[in-house]
Amino acid sequence: MNGTGETGKPEKIVTEWSSDARSGFRKKVVVGRHDLHQRPEFSDEALAALIERHPRDLTDFCTMGDLTDGADSWRAGDPGDLSGLELLEAVRAGKLWINLREAMMVDAVYRPLFDRMLADMKANNPGYRVLNVESGILISSPTAQVFIHSDVSETILWHVCGKKRIRIYPTAAPYVTDRHMEAILHKEQTEDLPFEPAWDNECEAVDLEPGMFTSWPLHGPHRVQNLSGMNVSITMELVTPESMLKNGVLHANGVLRRRFGMDPKSTAASGPGAYLKLAFSKMAKKLWRHSKPLPKSETTFEIDGASPTGFRDKAA
Ligand SMILES: [Fe+2]
Repeated sequence: MNGTGETGKPEKIVTEWSSDARSGFRKKVVVGRHDLHQRPEFSDEALAALIERHPRDLTDFCTMGDLTDGADSWRAGDPGDLSGLELLEAVRAGKLWINLREAMMVDAVYRPLFDRMLADMKANNPGYRVLNVESGILISSPTAQVFIHSDVSETILWHVCGKKRIRIYPTAAPYVTDRHMEAILHKEQTEDLPFEPAWDNECEAVDLEPGMFTSWPLHGPHRVQNLSGMNVSITMELVTPESMLKNGVLHANGVLRRRFGMDPKSTAASGPGAYLKLAFSKMAKKLWRHSKPLPKSETTFEIDGASPTGFRDKAA
């Protein structure tokens, strides 16, 4: 069992990070190992207690349809007054997805782990700079899935319980285009992307087991399908100088297209032109604020451990 050192700070969490992973980090799909799954913070009892104390306005209880139903099938639900352990049982038996947003940052039990994970990644990757991070805990059913999307930030996914397959598609058309990212950055659409089943022949698939973590290039389209067991993972969404510059260029191109009738072609995220676009993008964001398209917030089901799906529809 791993735990805290004599200083009260957690001991090293990243246990394996090969030279291939180090050289490929953020350029391609890479995999490392950690020991979070052996720590007491991820027992059922600890997670149940976290669900009970984590602010409900930072917690999403969701379900979703099949692959062909796509992202529109996401629905939000209510946990009612079920205990943390009852909610875990409903997740284990049903088709549910609980997102404890920011839990790794705002919860006093998990924050030391988060700090250590980030410190380990910085120590293992000289020159790695992080400007901002959001990190939460996902607890999901054996049959749950997340449909194809591109995150605007860089992502590291730390897998702790159960098995899941993540498929990562090339950061290129037709999977994702500069126009998709422009629209996402301009909040005209969510991070969801169109999907064709044949694309699975072009993806890189990683089967995640407890103790593995993975990362992929910025804006890499990906979808996640749980394979077995109740799944617990930690998401880290990281803003780096490189992601900020790339997003600044894409956002600036979008402003030039939308407000000035121009047709910028270059999405290069290097050189003086890129920094000029980043500055222009920051100015444009101050001038013209966008309101974010929110995920569906109306709750249409209640969690119910006695139902095979783990929930029952609310009366219309
Ligand atoms: Fe993602």
